Amino acid sequence: MKVLSVVGARPQLVKLAPIAAAFAGTPHQHVIVHTGQHYDADLSDVFFTGLGIPDPDIHLGVGSGSHGAQTGAVLAAMDKVLEGERPDWVLVYGDTNSTVAGALSAVKMHLPVAHLEAGLRSFNRRMPEEHNRVLTDHCADLLLAPTEEAVRHLANEGLSDRTRLAGDVMVDICLRVRDAVLAGKHPAPALPEGIDPERPFLLATLHRPDNTDDPARLASIIESLAALPVPVALLAHPRLITRADEHGVELAQGSVRVGRPLPYAGLVAAVMASVGVVTDSGGLQKEAFLLDRACTTIRPETEWVETLEGSWNVLVPDPHTMPVSEWAKIATRPAPEAPHGAPYGDGTAAERVVKLLEEAHTP
Ligand code: UD1
Repeated sequence: MKVLSVVGARPQLVKLAPIAAAFAGTPHQHVIVHTGQHYDADLSDVFFTGLGIPDPDIHLGVGSGSHGAQTGAVLAAMDKVLEGERPDWVLVYGDTNSTVAGALSAVKMHLPVAHLEAGLRSFNRRMPEEHNRVLTDHCADLLLAPTEEAVRHLANEGLSDRTRLAGDVMVDICLRVRDAVLAGKHPAPALPEGIDPERPFLLATLHRPDNTDDPARLASIIESLAALPVPVALLAHPRLITRADEHGVELAQGSVRVGRPLPYAGLVAAVMASVGVVTDSGGLQKEAFLLDRACTTIRPETEWVETLEGSWNVLVPDPHTMPVSEWAKIATRPAPEAPHGAPYGDGTAAERVVKLLEEAHTP
């Protein structure tokens, strides 16, 4: 069986790591296509080297652009790749522009498509990712759902026949890297200057267009982070830096210390060193949960609803509309004492994905 993975953005590289490792132990051929959506070393190269992923077989080099230009560039470039490779499966990951373009190019050529992390829904149609998810699920042939909740969403959309519960491959990689960090196999993470890892600090990221692209909103969120009573290590995504520059918003103010995005093992180590997380990232909400840190999410909703149980994750859509003391109390709350169970699976999802692809493969 020949499986062609299409990846392009940072979170997809994290998911690719356990999948590539699972294929390595099989007779199947695994071809990696990197769209080039993310091209900064911090967002791409360090994930290949740090997670031991084989180099991409094909690089499309599409880079940044408007949604239409970026999605269209991947679509146009994929035709030739798929014609040459003729894989048994095209495997697409998550919810980025690379995901929907990879899926669409494959179905147009009558090649079977499997969607990893199918069935997530925010029901927020302002999010570019929500369109990418829905469109990808409805055109894919095999829907690999990470959770029971995702299975239910797919059933509600009439997609049960194509749905399989696979578990979440992010658990596989997160727990593997956590254990390596605990065993001292990774150097200490490069935290922003001014953050003392021996003293309490919060780890923060911010990159969603809804939070970064409106100048007033971005300014108010940064002010809220700046007002927190503990240092905040803000790992700044390039989109955040670009928008803050454009809007004249100073990121390094008050409690905020600004640093670069971290490689995956560095991120896991930083979460473990922190007293809690403040973010708008989907992946980081779950990493905080898996690493037993309280998370505060600056969004009105989350796809990962399981993290909300027992207040492991708390949604604060507009921190600046609440009194600073109340906001600070939420953001600095300790992790709950009650354990949270394992709604995302047991860390063996990638092997299950390979098995499900084998079962659904018709030679
Ligand atoms: C993309 C995904 C988002 C995911 C995020 C993870 C879509 C619609 N969004 O958002 O779901 O959570 O990746 O990081 O696919 N840039 C660089 N260097 C890079 C990449 C981007 O400087 O290597 C800057 C450019 O200014 C670019 C902007 O970041 O225009 C946005 O990049 P883009 O890939 O369009 O979306 P992300 O915000 O990264």
